[in-house]
Amino acid sequence: MGEDAFLIVGGKRLQGEVRVSGAKNSALKLMAASLLTPDECVLENVPRITDVEVMCDVLRHLGAEVAREGETLRVLSGESSSCEAPYHLVRLMRASIVVLGPLVARYGEARVAIPGGCNIGSRKIDMHLRGLAEMGVEITTEHGYVTARAPSLRAARIALDFPSVGATENLMMAAVGARGTTLIENAAREPEIQDLAAFLVSMGAEIRGAGTPVLEVEGGMELRGTRHATVGDRVEAWTFAVAAAVTGGEVRVRGVDPAHLGLPLEKLREMGVQVEEEEHALSVRGGGDYRAVDVATLPFPGFPTDMQPQMMVLLSLAQGIGVVTENVFESRFMFVDELNRMGCDITIEGHHAIVRGGRRLSGAEVCAPDLRAGAALALAGLAAEGETRLLDIHHIDRGYERLEEKLARLGAEIGRVGNAA
Ligand code: EPZ
Repeated sequence: MGEDAFLIVGGKRLQGEVRVSGAKNSALKLMAASLLTPDECVLENVPRITDVEVMCDVLRHLGAEVAREGETLRVLSGESSSCEAPYHLVRLMRASIVVLGPLVARYGEARVAIPGGCNIGSRKIDMHLRGLAEMGVEITTEHGYVTARAPSLRAARIALDFPSVGATENLMMAAVGARGTTLIENAAREPEIQDLAAFLVSMGAEIRGAGTPVLEVEGGMELRGTRHATVGDRVEAWTFAVAAAVTGGEVRVRGVDPAHLGLPLEKLREMGVQVEEEEHALSVRGGGDYRAVDVATLPFPGFPTDMQPQMMVLLSLAQGIGVVTENVFESRFMFVDELNRMGCDITIEGHHAIVRGGRRLSGAEVCAPDLRAGAALALAGLAAEGETRLLDIHHIDRGYERLEEKLARLGAEIGRVGNAA
């Protein structure tokens, strides 16, 4: 098929220092938020990943000029030539839905293809739409598109059923365009939400409570261009931390705030992995026997669903049985069969995964079913005896900037090969 694969020879101890890129799940939203002003926004620390490329295409489709120099992205939205995010782009990346809020705030209208489900669940957008409706937006959904019209957007008090990351972001961005005070209750508190709020504030918005369950947005301010550095990617940092642990290595991860990984790092310590925190870095030293722990995914500051797949690999190497409970997405255990083919012993019971530890992993040919599961399979390959061929790594390229190069610099034997066979 000509698609790339990772070829990994396991058993190498990782050692050294690695710097994480900016967070995918923040950069995409900062890019969308740049639509809120006609001025130029300069975004720094933007990761070179394919999801960012798709968002560049979405913004260009909406009439913006987008240019990249190294890790810096310049977005000049000017006056929009279109308010539509078409299906051929949205189907490549469901996070494109996050242009809905900014378009409604700036132009009073938007037409965005409804994202379908994906390999981790059905992923509805009802909370985004209900919140917008409460702000006076007329929503129609037909022919696979959401059409939103709001000649006069109004402030509202919105209570979310669940602290959805995407709904909180869309509603926060819509609210900056609505005169008056909007309250978003049960808001998501992820570091990426805080980064988006900081960006909006630097554009001239007034937002209080970012990082708490109640967001207060004073809308109607004129927004201007700004410069902002994307927060470091905590999921990428976690991936390297677990890579160090599963190879019994020692790795210092730079460019991330350890406070953004509070509970996950506590779990590592509980398992017997040594973790040290600095202001913008963390060091992980693995080796010896690990103890199994239980993990339940929850919105921030709970254990992140995006860090669950990697944890399964580490639990497979620990002594005892660990139970991983997935509370955020309905089907985020699809990769377990692939891990089991590499020697893991994981059984699924509803939304619980029972991970039996003490396993010796062996390299195999496996497929990455989605982004984080793909990262977990790469980690399994690093820990396994022999060779692993990891296919479908386009999923990994969506969210990790050259994962194989960063791992190779830490001493992993990993390379990208054409998958002609
Ligand atoms: C964001 O997705 C991230 N994506 C995900 O990262 C992450 O796993 C997730 O937040 C949770 O932390 C981006 O930021 C681009 P949600 P999002 O809305 O915003 C349900 C990765 O690998 N829900 O918090 O889509 C939904 O179905 C990705 O980097 C509704 O029912 O997540 C899910 O079960 C994967 N109705 C739960 O809420 C809605 O209107 C959480 O979704 C919205 C969501």
